[in-house]
Order: sequence, then C-alpha cells, then structure tokens
Amino acid sequence: MNFSPAIAPAGAAHEDTPDVEFRGVSKLYGDVRAVDGVDMALKRGAFVSLLGPSGCGKTTCLRMMAGFEQPTTGQVLIRGADMTHVPAYRRPVNMVFQHYALFPHLNVEANVSYGLRQRSPAPPASEVKKAVAEALAMVRLGGYERRRTWELSGGQQQRVALARALINRPAVLLLDEPLAALDRKLRREMQIELQNLQRNIGITFLLVTHDQEEALSMSDQVCIMRDGKIVQAGSPRELYDEPVDRYVADFVGRSNFFAGRAGSGANGTIPVTLANGFATQGRSPTTAAVPRAGETIVLSIRPEQMVMAGRAADLPGDVTSRLEVVLRNRIFLGEHIEYLVEHATLGEFLVLIPRQADQGDRFATGDTVSVGWRPKAALVLRSTAAQA
Ligand SMILES: Nc1ncnc2c1ncn2[C@@H]1O[C@H](COP(=O)(O)OP(=O)(O)OP(=O)(O)O)[C@@H](O)[C@H]1O
Ligand SMILES: [Mg+2]
Repeated sequence: MNFSPAIAPAGAAHEDTPDVEFRGVSKLYGDVRAVDGVDMALKRGAFVSLLGPSGCGKTTCLRMMAGFEQPTTGQVLIRGADMTHVPAYRRPVNMVFQHYALFPHLNVEANVSYGLRQRSPAPPASEVKKAVAEALAMVRLGGYERRRTWELSGGQQQRVALARALINRPAVLLLDEPLAALDRKLRREMQIELQNLQRNIGITFLLVTHDQEEALSMSDQVCIMRDGKIVQAGSPRELYDEPVDRYVADFVGRSNFFAGRAGSGANGTIPVTLANGFATQGRSPTTAAVPRAGETIVLSIRPEQMVMAGRAADLPGDVTSRLEVVLRNRIFLGEHIEYLVEHATLGEFLVLIPRQADQGDRFATGDTVSVGWRPKAALVLRSTAAQA
C-alpha cells in the first residue's frame, strides 16, 4: 500500500517513530479473516481516520491496538516497542467505545477518575481530584463533578467518556464511532470539539467511522478499508483527487463511472473508448498504476468537473469530450444546480454546475444541452473483477 508523507514510513527512528504501527497484521476468527495483512503507521500527533463499510475490520484493528485482541499474525508496535503480547492495561493507549457506557451509578467525578483509582497503588485523593478537574476542563465540563450521568445530555455524556479516557494521558486515543449515537447537529458540534481537543493536547487520535464526510472533514489522514485490507491511505484531498480505484472514488465523494477500454497514451493522457464506442481521453491518478493498452477500465468523472452549455460550440475549447444529453432532473442546491442528465447510449449521470458559471442556471428539465469534460478531469481507473 501507499503511505503519503503524513503517515510515517515504517522503521524510522526517534520523533519520527510512529505512535502506533501495524506490520503485516492479520486477525482470523475461525474462517473469518477480519483483518488481512494490514501495514499502517500513525504519525505522532496526527488525526487519522479508519473509514470503511460495516464488517470491514475497523473495530478489530482498534482492539488489537488497544490490546483487547491479539493478532493471528503480524506485529503491533507502539512508539517503536513491540506490544503484540502486552496486555491492554500496560499500553499507553485508551479507547472510547461507540456506546460510551458510563457507569450509571457513579457521578461524573467517579466516572472520570475510574482509571486512576484502579491503579495500584492508587494515587492520593488530592491528586485524583486535580487530574479530574484537568480532564473535565479539556472537554469543557469544569464544575460538573457532582452531576449524575442521567442529568447530562448526550453530548455531555460523550465528553465525560472522553475525559475518562484522557485522564490516563494516553499517547494515542482510539475512538470507535464515538459520535454515532448523537443527532446530526450535536454530532457536528462534537466533531469540531474533537478536532480542537486533538489540536490543543496534541496526542494522536485514531477515529473509526463509516461516515465519509466525518472522516474527510476531521482528519489529516484517512485509511480506507475494505474486506480487512487498507485499500488506500492519504490526505482527504489525495483520496478525492487521486483514488487508486473505483471503490475509493465511489466511497469518497460522488462520481460518474463509465466503462471503457484504454488505448496507449503519451504525456500522461490516455485515450479511452467507452462501451458505446465514444472516443475520449483521461489521465491516470498519480498514485494508481497506468493501465495497459486494451485493458478494461472505468472512467471516473466528478459531477462538478462536468461543464454544460446550450450548444456544443459554446463549450470552452479545452473541453475536448462533448456529449449531447437531455436534462431529466434539476435540483436547486443554493450555490449549485445539480442536473441528472441522460445520454442516448451512456445512460444517466450527474452534472453539478455553480450558479455563478455562465448559463449554469438557465436550463430546465426536458432541455437538450451539451455537456463535456477536460482530459484532466477524467480519471482512468483499473477495473479489477472484484470491483465490477
Ligand atoms: N469476536 C468475534 N468472533 C467472530 N467474528 C468476529 C468477531 N469480531 C468481529 N468478527 C467479524 O470480523 C469482521 C470484522 O468485524 P469488525 O467488528 O472489525 O468490523 P467493523 O468494520 O468494526 O464493522 P462496523 O462498522 O459494523 O462496526 C466481521 O465479519 C465480524 O463479523
Ligand atoms: Mg465496529
């Protein structure tokens, strides 16, 4: 797999030593390969997300980092030290679970101090009190020590769960869908709060989510998982602009896909013949392998990369691929208009036009218009059998 700059390469020393590293980690439950040969390195102080559909192995990865599970094969390193067989309570990581499970019979202070009080010998009461106050201040709940858990809102309960994990001063905080139980507005607020918290305290966060918007908006790095493997790791921008395959292009943002066949290209431009015989061009994302001439490919074009005009002659000169389409649906989105268009042989696809663009606003359902794209807007992705 590819590591982009913000994910440190394996084996580096000292400050460059990743906080957490997986080397060839696999986990089998009977016949189920929950995690399959994962290499991953979390750079110190980074906000990293694990993004993937249900059952792809995200929680299992986190549990192996935390020490609740042991890999079947491979190694888990924390700050360069092999922790593969070190029990959870001796690892400098803390996990916040999806169901934050506060102890309902304990007040906020007792919940937050729980980890400290379990230590032997337990720290003196004055120290515990001070640590609780600090942890609550981090999550902006100073003064809530005496509150009962049922006297807190969902967001406040989530912050108590965070404080409970932070009080141990972990090197890494593992967050397993911590916001899933919250409603949309509260979720957005907590996302911003989590980001601020991570920036202020500077420890490494690994967030598990299956919400792509959440992963993209919060993280420095996103690892996209599928069937126990990491398909691609990179910054949100890299994943959006340079997906290695159709799966990533589809998972991160929206895209139009057209099946076709690659020709032999030069200067980075690849000629492509679509299934209906339409001749066009695209480019290979820099992180992906260039397809061979004759190989079956998928052309991926983001809706906002499409251009529209009343007549083909009115499209900008560098829009070399042009199609006549009928507007089937028009959705007003404020800054943009989203059109569902239909081509006689290629079928339906999406076109997103900013209202500021000349003419973007003037078409109506049923109109016949021209749409097109520039070669650099069309990504030529290899279509393996698994992605078909
Ligand atoms: N203790 C277990 N015993 C058997 N199979 C397990 C166990 N834990 C997980 N699995 C299986 O391993 C695979 C990965 O599970 P995991 O919980 O890591 O997925 P996930 O990506 O966290 O999914 P979700 O988004 O639904 O939480 C699944 O097929 C799951 O059924
Ligand atoms: Mg899970």
